[in-house]
Amino acid sequence: MSNKKSFLSYFLMISIFFFAIACSKKEKKVEVFKQFKIETSTKKANQVEIVKPAENLTPGLQTLSGKWQGAWIGVAEATLVVKEISKDKAKIYYSTKKYDPMKIPGIAFEIEADVIDGKNPTIFWQVKERKETYKFILGKNGHILRGLYTKGTDDIYVGMRKSTDKRGSYSKTLDLSDVKIKDQDTGLGKDWAKKAVFMEIYVRSFKDSDGDGIGDFKGLTSKLDYLKNLGIGGIWLMPSFSSSDKDHGYAVENYRDIEEDYGTIEDFEEFLKEAHKRKIGVILDYVINHSSSSNAIFEDSKLKNSSKRNWFRWKNKAPKGWNVGWRVGGPNPWPKTKYGHYYSVFFNGLPDWNLKNPEVMKFHYNNMKFWLNKGVDGFRFDAVGHLFEKEPNVWDNHPDNPKLVKKLKAFLNKYTNRFMVTEATTHAEVYAKPAGCTFGFGLQKGILGSARSGKAIGKMIKFIDENPMQNMAIFLSNHDGFVGDRTFKEVKGDDAKYKLAATTYLLLHAIPFIYYGEEVGMDLASAKISDDQLRAPMSWTDDEDNAGFTTSKIPYRLVARNVDSKYNAQDQVEDEDSIFSHYKKVIALRKSNDSLSLGSYKHIKIPNNKTVFAFIREYKDEKTIVAINYSQKDENVILKVDSANKSFKPINAESEDILKSSGSSTLKVEIPAQDFIIYKMTK
Ligand code: NOJ
Repeated sequence: MSNKKSFLSYFLMISIFFFAIACSKKEKKVEVFKQFKIETSTKKANQVEIVKPAENLTPGLQTLSGKWQGAWIGVAEATLVVKEISKDKAKIYYSTKKYDPMKIPGIAFEIEADVIDGKNPTIFWQVKERKETYKFILGKNGHILRGLYTKGTDDIYVGMRKSTDKRGSYSKTLDLSDVKIKDQDTGLGKDWAKKAVFMEIYVRSFKDSDGDGIGDFKGLTSKLDYLKNLGIGGIWLMPSFSSSDKDHGYAVENYRDIEEDYGTIEDFEEFLKEAHKRKIGVILDYVINHSSSSNAIFEDSKLKNSSKRNWFRWKNKAPKGWNVGWRVGGPNPWPKTKYGHYYSVFFNGLPDWNLKNPEVMKFHYNNMKFWLNKGVDGFRFDAVGHLFEKEPNVWDNHPDNPKLVKKLKAFLNKYTNRFMVTEATTHAEVYAKPAGCTFGFGLQKGILGSARSGKAIGKMIKFIDENPMQNMAIFLSNHDGFVGDRTFKEVKGDDAKYKLAATTYLLLHAIPFIYYGEEVGMDLASAKISDDQLRAPMSWTDDEDNAGFTTSKIPYRLVARNVDSKYNAQDQVEDEDSIFSHYKKVIALRKSNDSLSLGSYKHIKIPNNKTVFAFIREYKDEKTIVAINYSQKDENVILKVDSANKSFKPINAESEDILKSSGSSTLKVEIPAQDFIIYKMTK
């Protein structure tokens, strides 16, 4: 790469004091290039062919004004000039204005990049030693459709804003029509969700079917048999509607369309049909609290006299006294614009809907009906702890939140056997009952702590005792960094500890949610955790470039660091002792014994023993005793099983020896080091 040195030096300069001066000089250079219109065709997959060159086609081909939209980084303008492009090389001139809110001054540089194949011609370059990747995908007319820049652990996306009508009528581009309920039984049965083990899947990173380096619905459909084989009964899809972030999808632009990177709505329908054929339910992430700042309705709401003004929370005067400590871009959730101040609890790019406005709720219900009518099995509602707020400074857990959650549940009950789970990262006890199911944030730390330390730690027992677990969904990890690292890292790559953590949450009286890749021991792509790194392409094979995730030479994001060791699906499925085989075995036990999926729970306290965690699960007349030994030595313990003179048969161990409980309802058991035993009471 001939210009690599100068390119690197620009990035180094970001971090040095004189950066601003150096870059402001360079930035001027951009003005040299004018905007040129060209027509191109993409007859050959790896080539942009100029069919009708613009007049005066020197010195630049095209100037592109994009938006740098890093979900947690803020937005800044970028300009890209494709100066020359041939079959396999492109010269690009690139510059940005200052980043806001990070206040980093603009940068500019010129690079020679590779043109690689894929669905659309893609300009790609990578500086491996600095973990920097740039990728720009060209559309049919040669303009840049979207771009991705990864530096270290942060991804920044370049998306072109769609040109629409005048502000005030932008929302006409969306389908806001009323939708009538058309119920259908999706064939999963009444308690399907309670009986299921779910997997949280990030479509962008699961499986690419068309070689553009990005996961899609066709890819996901092709892996349904893998999920079935593991024993998965439910899938939570991270947001899959068309979004502006071009990443995790929480910045929704159109609630009634599929993310274009993921394929078409027909691809989605096919996926749903195939999932149902395998008795797998599908729930969608529904982002009810906020939209994207480039959602057409938000654009319209900027005008003070717009009929959509009241769909968001606008104030003409700056509200005072607000402080959201973790908010990206600063703690004041009321950013100032020339149209007024709007409320956005997460960051400027995610304006909160005004859920007090009945029109907004109607909009959401119509959107939900749109998907439920297609046979979607329910929703994971994002960020329900932030639905309502009270001035000043009540932005979490407003008392109206659980009331709305209850209404959402009642709405869902108009359909047959639909399921919902809410995400409230604090006060789970408030949302569990009205929602029917809410995520149990915090338990993962207790479980992983037990597996790591070799003891059933108090944090885990206390959480289980104090929370309405029967109305909860539990997990070891998910897509958010605040939850923790990939399990592989949490247990420092120790398989035995990994399996102990998995055993624990897969046998408890809450619905387990596996985070994709967890079942094969997937690590991050880099040493440092970040949300992007948590959402790396799934490790299907040991190919260290693309992990079997795509046929493209280059996946859209770097793959897991441990992909070429045994931690990939191909190797794991074949190995009887693998993490995957362990998950499969425990899930099968849960599924084939109603007491383990639907049953009650009672902790068995064991005097003078800290290393064994034992509990009773009971459903109708089925009773099972679970005992997990976190320590590195075999343990002999006496368990109070509340049934005198009964026979108990081990259902997971090699030994078939039937044990008898004593007249005082105790059972003497031996549990091998770092292992577990389940005894089932015989009738
Ligand atoms: C919570 C989600 O889990 C997180 O990933 C997302 O970024 C925020 N809500 C905003 O939608």
